[in-house]
Amino acid sequence: MLRNLLHLLTLAALMLTACGGAPAGGAATTSTPGQAQFAANCGECHSDDGSGTDEAPSVRGHTVEQILEQVRNPEGDMKAIPADKLSDADLALIAQYVASFSDEEAHPDLMPTDEERTHLEAAFEAIENYENMDREVAITHLDQAVALASSDSVDLYQQLIDAINAKKAGNARHELKELLGLEDGH
Ligand code: HEC
Repeated sequence: MLRNLLHLLTLAALMLTACGGAPAGGAATTSTPGQAQFAANCGECHSDDGSGTDEAPSVRGHTVEQILEQVRNPEGDMKAIPADKLSDADLALIAQYVASFSDEEAHPDLMPTDEERTHLEAAFEAIENYENMDREVAITHLDQAVALASSDSVDLYQQLIDAINAKKAGNARHELKELLGLEDGH
């Protein structure tokens, strides 16, 4: 019985290799322009699909101009990437790629109450330094903010919790910064 199963599996594997081996007609080679350049230059911090990591937030919801500006002349904790490291041409491709993701709003316009703010501040402090984060403390405080919040804010605070759990705390850090008004310039 087990032996038969193994046999079947081996066969299936062989068939897969056989089918996958030949580059049949090129249909499989669709890669979006800018994707490879994004992964090579930005993926290390923002993840290859741009959805964020513990270190850096999602890049979604930005325009071409915002991307060009952020890379050459960044806001916040990101270091500029100069033209000798990333050419204007490659950066233009990257910006097109990122801008094509979606037009979902990058930063929802919410006003936390004072009580919520206290918890949001504590959550921010707990994940402020990505090399030394306390996810549990952050989540405990966000849970408390959820318990206090109105429905729009509940959704957002829940997203922050999900991001922290998904090892994409950079998103939560960035969003909290915006919510608490710790970022100037926007
Ligand atoms: C060494 C890590 C690192 C690399 C490499 C990097 N970034 Fe960033 N980036 C960050 C961090 C950290 C932030 C958050 C800045 C802050 O909020 O203080 C950020 C913020 C951003 C933002 C703003 C996000 C927002 O919601 O406002 C954009 C857009 C962005 N980066 C695009 C890029 C692009 C495009 C590249 C590649 C060309 C890139 N980054 C490469 C670390 C990095």
